Amino acid sequence: MLTMNDVIREGHPVLTTRAADVEIPLKAETKKILTQMRAFLIHSQNDEMREKYELRAGVGLAAPQINISKRMCVMYTTDESGETLHDYVMVNPKIVSHSVKETYIDTGEGCLSIDREVEGLVPRYAKVTVQTHLYDVLKDTLKEATLTLEGYVAIVFQHELDHLNGILFTERIKPVSPDIQPIQFNYEEE
Ligand code: NI
Repeated sequence: MLTMNDVIREGHPVLTTRAADVEIPLKAETKKILTQMRAFLIHSQNDEMREKYELRAGVGLAAPQINISKRMCVMYTTDESGETLHDYVMVNPKIVSHSVKETYIDTGEGCLSIDREVEGLVPRYAKVTVQTHLYDVLKDTLKEATLTLEGYVAIVFQHELDHLNGILFTERIKPVSPDIQPIQFNYEEE
């Protein structure tokens, strides 16, 4: 299983490198890595596992963060309603269109590859349409998909896509216009 020891941190050159396309069909080794990446997020959100393996809770992980410079990432998170789970294992994702409207998380963003608290806001598109291959780790199938992601989930995706392009959220921090509305979370965060 993956632990925080597998996660490379700020300063590592792979985090500032544009990752390469993933070969399709997926190789057995790639499938194994994707399965481990998804499991890492699930473990990191489980209190017992998080404590036992000293994980940091995460909702997204990109392959470059485990020192694999390939265009693949996983997300495992509910949306801002706290109700709908977004469980995606993405291969070669790209944004095909996006809203003009922006949004942001009013507490800023965090990253498993950045060990310090970073102040500042990161405006991102409020809605993105994404073309990607989705790998189903349970069925072992790979399908092309077009996803429309909004709000919090759109932010998480853009953060992960940035990792595939060698960009950390710290580079995206800028003053946010008062016209831009932050994400409204409709549940209490722990
Ligand atoms: Ni990150």
